[in-house]
Amino acid sequence: MIVGRPQIARVYVWLTFLVAGVVFLQGFLFGAFYSEGDSVFIDAHGIVGELSGYFAILVLIPLAFRAQFPRETRIGWWTVGWVALWNVQVHVFGYGIEDVRWFEMIHIPLAIFLILSGMYLATRAHQVVRTGPTSGIPVSPDGSDAR
Ligand code: HEM
Repeated sequence: MIVGRPQIARVYVWLTFLVAGVVFLQGFLFGAFYSEGDSVFIDAHGIVGELSGYFAILVLIPLAFRAQFPRETRIGWWTVGWVALWNVQVHVFGYGIEDVRWFEMIHIPLAIFLILSGMYLATRAHQVVRTGPTSGIPVSPDGSDAR
């Protein structure tokens, strides 16, 4: 099995890396807010989080399915889960912090989880585009299952 639309799959890979990398920017914006005490930084942190969440819904999910990754990789559905978690981070454990202070104790570890899982997802998709799925199922040169 091979990727049906490799060009779209490559765009998906780089955009997924980009969105996962937003966590670094978020950490930087929060750090600036913490050290400068200027609310403009935490406002920007909220806006970046919200816009990247909408971007992920509108762009990453459709790309993940349109790329036609091999069905057994389930990259489309893993993307849906990851993007859903990103938006939970924004709307529950992000904006919710103002009312429920301890959400911070979930928000920061969840940010770390999102960057690691996002990088893993993008790397896995990249590997599939380059070499086909490496699930232990041999793939013959014509793309058919070689078992
Ligand atoms: C997936 C990445 C992230 C997203 C989507 C995100 C999103 C948000 C949102 C929407 C808010 C509410 C902002 C507001 O009230 O205007 C928030 C608050 C906050 N974020 Fe993040 N964030 C992310 C990563 C991080 C990281 C890496 C850190 C720390 C290193 C962090 C620390 C905080 C803290 C402490 C608050 C509460 C600020 C306060 O109201 O005192 N966030 N975040």
